[in-house]
Amino acid sequence: MKAPVCIIGGGPSGLLLSQLLDIEGIDNIVLEKQSREYVLGRIRAGVLEHGFAQLMREARCGERMDREGEIHEGFFIAHDGVMDRVDLHKYSGGSSVVVYGQTELTRDLYEARDRMNGKVIHNAEDVAPHDLKSDRPYVTYRQGGQIFRVDCDYVIGADGFHGVSRKSIPREVLQEFERVYPFGWLGVLSRTKPVSPELIYSRHERGFALCSLRSQTLSRYYIQAPLEDKVEDWSDDAFWTELRNRLPTDVANKLISGPSIEKSIAPLRSFVAEPMRHGRLFLAGDAAHIVPPTGARGLNSAASDIYYLYHAMVDHYKKGNDTGLDAYSQRALARVWKAQRFSWWMTTLLHRFPTNLPYEDRLQQTELQYLFSSEKALGSLAENYVGLPF
Ligand code: APR
Ligand code: PHB
Repeated sequence: MKAPVCIIGGGPSGLLLSQLLDIEGIDNIVLEKQSREYVLGRIRAGVLEHGFAQLMREARCGERMDREGEIHEGFFIAHDGVMDRVDLHKYSGGSSVVVYGQTELTRDLYEARDRMNGKVIHNAEDVAPHDLKSDRPYVTYRQGGQIFRVDCDYVIGADGFHGVSRKSIPREVLQEFERVYPFGWLGVLSRTKPVSPELIYSRHERGFALCSLRSQTLSRYYIQAPLEDKVEDWSDDAFWTELRNRLPTDVANKLISGPSIEKSIAPLRSFVAEPMRHGRLFLAGDAAHIVPPTGARGLNSAASDIYYLYHAMVDHYKKGNDTGLDAYSQRALARVWKAQRFSWWMTTLLHRFPTNLPYEDRLQQTELQYLFSSEKALGSLAENYVGLPF
């Protein structure tokens, strides 16, 4: 097989790039290790920046998002027994976010690829990029006992944190920056009315909690949990009790609980790999960087990579201009690191660290008091949360 662009990974990053390139007439093949059902079975975050929502529309995938997604112009931070609102619209100069689940977004991308007869190959095993430093790279994979080969100009590594692409960059070239947090998030999805029309991030002495939602009938809640905890350790009742304990009383009293339809624990990690380009390989999304979910930046950071890469590819194929490709790693990383900083800041501000001294507790409280007394500090939070410009 032959295509100018071979994309490894059929998650949101790979699919969005595939769709955008195809619209511009740049042929591409997506190689995905799992089945479509498996990819769509993953429950992930659900806050989209304004710029990402625009990119979805440009990719002709925005219809259902615009119909079913909710525009949020603010969120709450509960702390010290009070609920303070961050008015995103006011402090970001009129911007907002769209609350729309990543699972739904990925489904829309798959359906858009189907409509355009996009080439998405599922159950591609042993995917391996080759000759990345030459100008004739290729990718091999196995399916049903047979080996296939895709000859291409460029390979896109959009295969997530555990993928093969980043690992194919030589150790002496790749620099990795990492912080693993000493706790995880236990998440529950339930078919119940959300406790609040806007998200509530709660800092509490028992640990962090988040009230989020997918729609007015589907709620998503999280509590900070020790890394050693297993999902089986947490009955639904224990989860609801602990969540209520970490919310202001009036919110806790309003909370409607119900059976969990999904329950999982995710560790919190910050990670960046540099550079994001090696020869003809370009990394994008979780393959190159991970953030803890507190700032809702994960999917959005992937989107900015795709934005840069898409424009760089169009400039290359349509105008013979390689400036964008040459600048990709540097441009993408500059924004990635800002998302890292913001996610680290939100995480540090709102979680209970096992090693926290009373001094650090006071600093967290003071930081929150400062935040809600300073329009400039709120402006900084708001502009980061709605997404810095691409
Ligand atoms: N070969 C082919 N595909 C692979 C391989 C491999 N060796 N390894 C992983 N994949 C596939 C995974 O099965 C997955 O479907 O690559 C895809 C990567 O998707 P994601 O992990 O979702 O990463 P990405 O598309 O970059 O999405 C951005 O933002 O909110 C965060 O983590 C969240 O998934 C989200 C991410
Ligand atoms: C979610 O709805 O899953 C969600 C929302 C906001 C976050 C993290 C997760 O910061």
